[in-house]
Amino acid sequence: MAPHTIKSFSAGESMGEIKILLGFEVGTGKEVHMSLHHTVITGMTQLSGKTTTLEAIISRANRRAIAFKTKRGESGFNSYREIPPFFEERADWQYVSTLLEAVMRESLKFERPWIMKATQGTKTLREVYENVQMLRAEATKSLPENVYTALEQYLKIVVPQIEKFRFSKTLNLIDGINVMDLTEMTLELQALVIQSTMEYVLNNLHETILIVPEAWEHIPQGRNTPVKLFAETFIRKGAAIGNYLFIDSQDIAGIDKMPLRQCNNWILGRQREGHEVERVREQIGRNKIDAEEIRSLPLGHFLAILGDDVKKVYVLPAGVPSKIGRRVAMGEMTVSDAGKYMNNASAEEETPPEPQTGIRRFLPAPTSDRAMRRIEELDMKLARRDNEIALLRTELDGLRTELITSTAKLEQLIRQQETAEQRAAKSQVPAVRPGFTVDDLNQLIDQRMHQIIQYDKPTVFTQVDVSGRFKEVVKERYIRELGIRIRGLPLQTIHAAMVVHERKAVKRGDLYSFLHGGNGRITDDFYTELQKLEDVRLVVYSKETGVVHWALGEYLKRELGSMYDEATIKQAEEYLASLLLPPS
Ligand SMILES: Nc1ncnc2c1ncn2[C@@H]1O[C@H](COP(=O)(O)OP(=O)(O)OP(=O)(O)O)[C@@H](O)[C@H]1O
Ligand SMILES: [Mg+2]
Repeated sequence: MAPHTIKSFSAGESMGEIKILLGFEVGTGKEVHMSLHHTVITGMTQLSGKTTTLEAIISRANRRAIAFKTKRGESGFNSYREIPPFFEERADWQYVSTLLEAVMRESLKFERPWIMKATQGTKTLREVYENVQMLRAEATKSLPENVYTALEQYLKIVVPQIEKFRFSKTLNLIDGINVMDLTEMTLELQALVIQSTMEYVLNNLHETILIVPEAWEHIPQGRNTPVKLFAETFIRKGAAIGNYLFIDSQDIAGIDKMPLRQCNNWILGRQREGHEVERVREQIGRNKIDAEEIRSLPLGHFLAILGDDVKKVYVLPAGVPSKIGRRVAMGEMTVSDAGKYMNNASAEEETPPEPQTGIRRFLPAPTSDRAMRRIEELDMKLARRDNEIALLRTELDGLRTELITSTAKLEQLIRQQETAEQRAAKSQVPAVRPGFTVDDLNQLIDQRMHQIIQYDKPTVFTQVDVSGRFKEVVKERYIRELGIRIRGLPLQTIHAAMVVHERKAVKRGDLYSFLHGGNGRITDDFYTELQKLEDVRLVVYSKETGVVHWALGEYLKRELGSMYDEATIKQAEEYLASLLLPPS
């Protein structure tokens, strides 16, 4: 056995704190105690004994605990009371935002109104799902459409799952370990159940331990999940009322660092991968431990950072007598010999032990040590495959959400750019009081005309050609009015008008793809734009031929032709068309 190289620091035990026996210090055989607090435990699958350690801590802490079984190969938590999965369905916008945030990987400030719209009056996620489908079909802008698409995809997975399982709406716990079996559920639904349970515990219970298994899936680094978004609240508020989170993960790298920082107890088992070994060394202090020691930690052996103390410890499994544990810690007995007491311990209980999982299930009573070792090897192989599959699945999930997020971001950028352009355009148009109509303007012009006639140059008027002057004023007022309406067009519509002006006539479909790219279906918005252009007499759109014509010249000729010559009309047309151009 490797020599004991860890120095222990000040014991730092405060009075009144609950101290739980964790196991025995390697080398000395001294008892190692830990205080009850948020705890993280890591180590390679099947080679470290994380679940066994958690079982041991909880059984000696004499606390109520809730554990979730999330994968089939899980060998622990078998001989405990199984409770039905608890899930309190919520369909309010805050909750749905959290779900969406988990899928889209970012906080959703802009999206709130759309989520509120989708959750108006909803009681179940099924209702939200139905709303979202409807809203997505109606959405004409791409950003809300993206939000609804992401939400729809997520609910499509989750809603049928929720309906498939029978959930308990009450959480009846006994002292000791309560196990919820979630192995048949998808990762998404597991997350909802864990989150819901967490929320219930936080709001209704105290002195309860919650174990998040496979934390690299449920509290992952760099990605949001409903569990992760809620874990922060649970951790922050939990300790004061004796609710603690136990985080179980194969490594440190995969888990989000926020909850880790809140953990007082770190129980770190065997690691092989170089970076992970370094991470463990970093936690403990590089000069206090060498890499090889972490690589060669045997089953049941951990480096435990307990508050300020660091100890190398052999964890005493539940049911194994203390003296046996101490002998293992002192190198006088093998781990597997101690393990035999674990099986004995469960055999002593009144209820018959649950059948073993994995390979052991098919060989209930292996006879020789060789057979045992072979079975363990095979079990390990299976567990590794399980992990690989799970890893690939999360990677795939990650890629999928990344795609959705990137698209949403792009849309957001485009939208920001558009509003910036609009703002710029607005600042160049002279400010008009809100509610100021064309009629008001006419009145102003009339007043001004009156002033001119009365005061300005009355003598000049007697000398001018009155009818010529009238003509001039009528033309000016006419053109000015049309000009104001043209200037009031939205930017997008102005772009459309410019294209038609340039081409004189253009097919509706060509115009649409020119402006919006691609061959997408023409939207209602586009027809509204055409209507606006017709209203200000710039174009005429023929439904029969599907062609959009530039029509301003014709229109002016028709309206003003009897009063003005062609050159004047042409001039007016050019002036009005020039209003479409951005001010230089
Ligand atoms: N301290 C220990 N003493 C003796 N045997 C142990 C000890 N810890 C674990 N074992 C045995 O090692 C095996 C694996 O233990 P456990 O299920 O706790 O590992 P794990 O780290 O939780 O694995 P996984 O990551 O796959 O969940 C079990 O068969 C268990 O009985
Ligand atoms: Mg485990």
